[in-house]
Amino acid sequence: MSGVPIFRGDFFADDVIADPLPIYREMRELGPIVWMAQHGIWAAVHYAPVLEILRKPKIFISGKGLSLNDDVNRILIGSSLNSDGDRHRRQRSITAPAIMPDQLTDIAPMIERAAETLADALVREGRFDAVADFARILPLSIVVELVGLPDHAKGKMLEWADATFNLFEGSNERSRSSFPRLEELRDFLTEYGRPDALQNGGLAKRIFEIAPSKGIPLEEAAQMMRDYIAPSLDTTISVAGFLAWHFADSPDQWQLIRENDDLVENAVEETVRLTTPIRAFTRYVASNVEMHGVTMQEGQRVMVVYASANRDEAVFPDPDRFDVTRKTHRHVGFGQGPHMCMGMHLARLELAALIRSMAKRVGRWHFDGVPKVAMNNTIRAFSYLPVRVTPC
Ligand code: HEM
Repeated sequence: MSGVPIFRGDFFADDVIADPLPIYREMRELGPIVWMAQHGIWAAVHYAPVLEILRKPKIFISGKGLSLNDDVNRILIGSSLNSDGDRHRRQRSITAPAIMPDQLTDIAPMIERAAETLADALVREGRFDAVADFARILPLSIVVELVGLPDHAKGKMLEWADATFNLFEGSNERSRSSFPRLEELRDFLTEYGRPDALQNGGLAKRIFEIAPSKGIPLEEAAQMMRDYIAPSLDTTISVAGFLAWHFADSPDQWQLIRENDDLVENAVEETVRLTTPIRAFTRYVASNVEMHGVTMQEGQRVMVVYASANRDEAVFPDPDRFDVTRKTHRHVGFGQGPHMCMGMHLARLELAALIRSMAKRVGRWHFDGVPKVAMNNTIRAFSYLPVRVTPC
């Protein structure tokens, strides 16, 4: 490894999860791609290599899983996230169309109504926890119903998602203690991954209605339910929590939103950029490759640090500043390339509805206590964020 930039810290340590930004900066200063000595993998931390890796899926493959732990990968392989090539395209052709913009027109008014009701209640309350009382409400009331698992499993979705995201690391205490919940999800998919066990009209049941015409066996279809279970809640909840944080921290930006509704969609993207709820995933290196001054060998892993790329000074000037007017279109918070997020349109609808409903009623957001960070190996989020709002 002589001449190669080496990062010696633990990317998954408690203090890094609590405050990851200094580590990303330190890694970016070392170079575009660094060797992570503690984890024995590469990490792409500048914007350019992150984009390049995500756009070269034949070299940087997902089909051997995205976790650092192969026991975890063996369980997760089978979802869109953990597949490549034709299989990946076939899977996406089953799970993605139902959550594309043209399919969300029916559900959009429902999301907007729920956001309005929520905003009324929160402004009446005046002070609330922006995680439990604000960020979680739409995903837990609307998305959970949309997915349509059996009733006894609906309440499990957050736990299963938390475990799945912890297990992308795969060896620390957080991930070890998550393993039983991953097995519980695997057993659930085996037992309830059949059409008669699922809610009529739901996204999960829809997989089984389409899969036979694509020649997909039942067991494989059951694994595809992961597309809707693991990533659909925590990610959006994380960004919604950060919306509250940024608007309390930057009243001038809230004022801009209140004065100009056209900025709402961009404010969502800027918050996704700064939050980058999925900090990083890995890819398996399928053939030797030289890039940005390092040689990656077949069989190694490279971590794609979306969160660092989104703060690369070369692409986003003054990257830590929350600016709802910034040109945000290049951010990689939803990924890039063939695995780019399929749920982003749904997430955007929820997040924009939250901003709009609050903008009609709230003149100013204020911090109202000390926030707590959610300790998860992959997802960056608050677990508690006390705020107060002043009505307009
Ligand atoms: C703000 C909210 C969200 C963020 C920031 C986010 C972020 C991401 C990212 C970074 C990826 C790329 C993974 C990779 O490169 O391997 C991804 C993929 C994915 N997301 Fe999201 N996501 C969000 C919401 C959702 C929702 C609401 C759903 C489902 C309803 C969803 C379903 C998926 C799926 C299935 C994939 C895998 C796609 C594939 O591999 O082809 N996401 N997401």
